[in-house]
Amino acid sequence: MGALHPHDAARRARSFGSIAAQYDRFRPGYPAALVADLRAAITAGAADPVAAPTLADIGAGTGLFAADLRAGGFEVTAVEPDHDMAEVARARGLAVEEAAFEEWDPAGRRFDAVAFGQSWHWVDQDTGPERLADLLVPDGVACLAWNEYSPAAALSARLAAVEADYGITVHRRHAELLAERDDSQRATAARALADAGFRTRVRWYDWDCTVTPADWLESLMTFSEYAVLADEVRAEVRARLRAELPAEPLELVAGTLAVFGRRPAA
Ligand SMILES: C[S@@+](CC[C@H](N)C(=O)[O-])C[C@H]1O[C@@H](n2cnc3c(N)ncnc32)[C@H](O)[C@@H]1O
Repeated sequence: MGALHPHDAARRARSFGSIAAQYDRFRPGYPAALVADLRAAITAGAADPVAAPTLADIGAGTGLFAADLRAGGFEVTAVEPDHDMAEVARARGLAVEEAAFEEWDPAGRRFDAVAFGQSWHWVDQDTGPERLADLLVPDGVACLAWNEYSPAAALSARLAAVEADYGITVHRRHAELLAERDDSQRATAARALADAGFRTRVRWYDWDCTVTPADWLESLMTFSEYAVLADEVRAEVRARLRAELPAEPLELVAGTLAVFGRRPAA
């Protein structure tokens, strides 16, 4: 997590259970084109056609990415350390194994694909790439994805200024990333996979999204930076953000960044 103190990173990584239902309701799913590209990448690397490729979705949360991957034809095993998040995913009919990536025992299984939706940055970056390679069949494909979305620049800047008073960076980070179509965290992810011998490719998927100001506020509260705040502080930031929001729906600037990495055949 870059400059974050390890204690803060761990607290934030564990914060999602407290907002599981809200997370599931207000966070977006993933573009169908991304899922199709992942399928195509597996087909391209396979000697024989793969009818239902196996996939492990790590840090699956409430199953938003896993459900999209299942709809795209993958046979999904979800892995999620937080019990409350896992329960929401199970209610979707997903098979969930409750464990952190670092402690999960795949019991000798290897997968055609391994996915991380907004979760790669939470796992141990020193051991992650090699552990990921060990989970994949030769020529298997890793997909690290992040949804990025933010109101238009002027409003984002006002909301970022409010957040800055509380050390929160949600609008600043998303706006910077959307403006530049790259950022150091994701570039680091691609480099880490390349260093571990993966052949990598980075792709952006643009999408449109319009939300009510009330829903935008709710969706902000699902970010770990908000989830770890004391209730009274969260209520104060929330009131200040609400005062900045217009009455009419917000058209978000939105996209999904995916880092694909093909494990080299041994
Ligand atoms: C931002 S949520 C993403 C959930 C889901 N993949 C999605 O796209 O909506 C991040 C998830 O990673 C999980 N997580 C945190 N640390 C983890 C770790 N070390 N190993 C696996 N998952 C972890 C959290 O519990 C949380 O459910």
